[in-house]
Amino acid sequence: MTTIKNVAVVGAAGALGTPVLKALVDSGKFNVTVLTRSSTKATFPASVKVSQVDFESLESLTSALKGQDAVVSTVGTAGLQGQTLVIDAAVAAGVKRFLPSEFGSDLSNPKTAAFPVYGFKLAVIQHLEAAAKAHPEFTYTLVRNGAFLDWGLEQSFLLDWKSGKPAIWDGGDRLFSATSLASVGQAVVGTLTHFEETKNRPVYVQDLVTSQNKLLALARKVAPQLKLEPVPSSTTELKAASDARVAKGEFTPEVLIPYIFVSIFGDGYGGKMEKTDNEILGVPGNKTDADIEAILKSLLPQ
Ligand SMILES: NC(=O)c1ccc[n+]([C@@H]2O[C@H](COP(=O)([O-])OP(=O)(O)OC[C@H]3O[C@@H](n4cnc5c(N)ncnc54)[C@H](OP(=O)(O)O)[C@@H]3O)[C@@H](O)[C@H]2O)c1
Repeated sequence: MTTIKNVAVVGAAGALGTPVLKALVDSGKFNVTVLTRSSTKATFPASVKVSQVDFESLESLTSALKGQDAVVSTVGTAGLQGQTLVIDAAVAAGVKRFLPSEFGSDLSNPKTAAFPVYGFKLAVIQHLEAAAKAHPEFTYTLVRNGAFLDWGLEQSFLLDWKSGKPAIWDGGDRLFSATSLASVGQAVVGTLTHFEETKNRPVYVQDLVTSQNKLLALARKVAPQLKLEPVPSSTTELKAASDARVAKGEFTPEVLIPYIFVSIFGDGYGGKMEKTDNEILGVPGNKTDADIEAILKSLLPQ
């Protein structure tokens, strides 16, 4: 049986990286090393070893990954493409398990995988598959958690309460999967402690299934004085508008981010999981409206 003891985290200072690092450290099961760029301003808990690396140098990355059993990458958009070199270094260093910065939509769904916004993630998956085929001792897991629940509410991503005019997609009743950052952290721990069950495949985790209309009702309950004027919106039109701009060669965040909305709220994009690996990963998946209410209470003006 393979046991993961030494874990390197890339992107540990990010929105997701911070709670993932916390879950790894709090589990008490791992020796954790954080790989950062020399430019980073981030600070980390004293129990964590910090290693500054050159993310453009295979040698620098390989030397930093020597002795590591697993790499967990939670890099943001700017770091996605560079993960292929981190994977090459992980293979060279004898790392046994790689978790790339996946953590979202179901890229096994062909309609979702076709969106240009996921191009770098798909290239990384293909790189991992090839590396695992060529080096059977090297393995990977893709953690897919649907929409971030707490982050998505805080950022007005799932319901735009900040503008007061939330777009409500396709009537607002369509269900989608959502997971808190802490539960994603638990899913990472659960992956590393269930080596065989999570080998070379996607794992699916969710805290709950909800809808925009549910979020809207809960926001109104929590902050009745907050003016919320929903704007009925169509994911078909949203996608068509981005498709037209992509066809003209536009690949800005303004053009690409709408595809993420379509993958969460649209019909047939896998926004609601058909099955989960919650049990293997140790995520109860039993959050309720009361948990959403608690998050909204901490965010919305009272
Ligand atoms: N499911 C959802 O709803 C949802 C929402 C948001 C994000 N996500 C996904 O979650 C993952 C993490 O996103 P995030 O928003 O947490 O990211 P983020 O906050 O932007 O991540 C910042 C981290 O990435 C590292 N980084 C940035 N550029 C890098 C580079 N070129 N090379 C190496 N490291 C680099 C930074 O490193 P330093 O420490 O060196 O500064 C920092 O630690 C992504 O896969 C994203 O798509 C999912």
